[in-house]
Amino acid sequence: MARRWTNDLTQTDVTPKALFLNRRALLGGLAGVGAASALGGRARAQGLEPNSYEDITTYNNFYEFGTSKADPAAHAGAMVTDPWTIRVDGMVDRPGDYALADLLDGLEIEERIYRFRCVEAWSMVVPWNGVELADVLSKVGVQARARYVAFETAVQPDAMPGVRRRVIPFPYVEGLRLDEAMHPLTLLATGLYGEAMPKQNGAPIRLVVPWKYGFKSIKSIVRISLTDEEPPTTWNRLASHEYGFYANVNPDVSHPRWSQATERRIGGGLFSSRQDTLMFNGYEREVASLYAGMDLRVNY
Ligand code: MTE
Repeated sequence: MARRWTNDLTQTDVTPKALFLNRRALLGGLAGVGAASALGGRARAQGLEPNSYEDITTYNNFYEFGTSKADPAAHAGAMVTDPWTIRVDGMVDRPGDYALADLLDGLEIEERIYRFRCVEAWSMVVPWNGVELADVLSKVGVQARARYVAFETAVQPDAMPGVRRRVIPFPYVEGLRLDEAMHPLTLLATGLYGEAMPKQNGAPIRLVVPWKYGFKSIKSIVRISLTDEEPPTTWNRLASHEYGFYANVNPDVSHPRWSQATERRIGGGLFSSRQDTLMFNGYEREVASLYAGMDLRVNY
């Protein structure tokens, strides 16, 4: 199922993935090992070595649990993620409160090894598992008037110390233009390294938009709304001059308080040098056409 990437794919050197593909097979029920192998090969051809499970699950941003990088791993265990219901509403043919399993029913869980670049100028490489958001949206039937997709995170005050302290306004909200949402790179991720999504990473289901800064990749989603107006987004509400709606990774457009030209790869060791940040986080060929004719300094 290497759809849309056929030209880049190599089948070489997939053995390092064997460990978690086996683990995935043991977990059972998850399809798409073929795609995983193929994309694993492609990622390797691009020199993408995933960060360790430890890196990915101990250095997190999830303000519902606190503002330090260690808070999510320390506190997210208390979040209740089963049962999980997602409200789908707005301009869709089949609105409703969907059990997560029903929303995913019949869809193939694929593996995607993506660069992940936080607006704070650190980065990782993450082997996600998930479904294309486009496939979920097709299931619920997007109406012709819809132009944007809005997302909302769960609020569980009893489990979430950051919500109780109101470190920022909650629920955390995000949004995409419909064409961004429908892009084949855009994932609703349900796991990483072949395992169910750890709570600190946004269990049971979170967005992953690899060409945008990490704050667009909203965690623990409980609501997906189709609208005809650009939806509000949490960081834009808090500081609109620093965080735009688009938030595309762009080494040429600095954050007002720091450069975005380079990034620090987590897990690279204390003395590792910074690496250059790539336009659209390295996905320029796939996504640049979405922004043709737009001034990316204005639409940051
Ligand atoms: N989603 C919610 N609900 N709350 C958050 O604080 N932080 C964002 C994003 N999604 C955040 C969120 C930011 S700033 C980043 S960089 C990524 O989650 C971090 O994802 P990770 O912890 O899986 O690396």
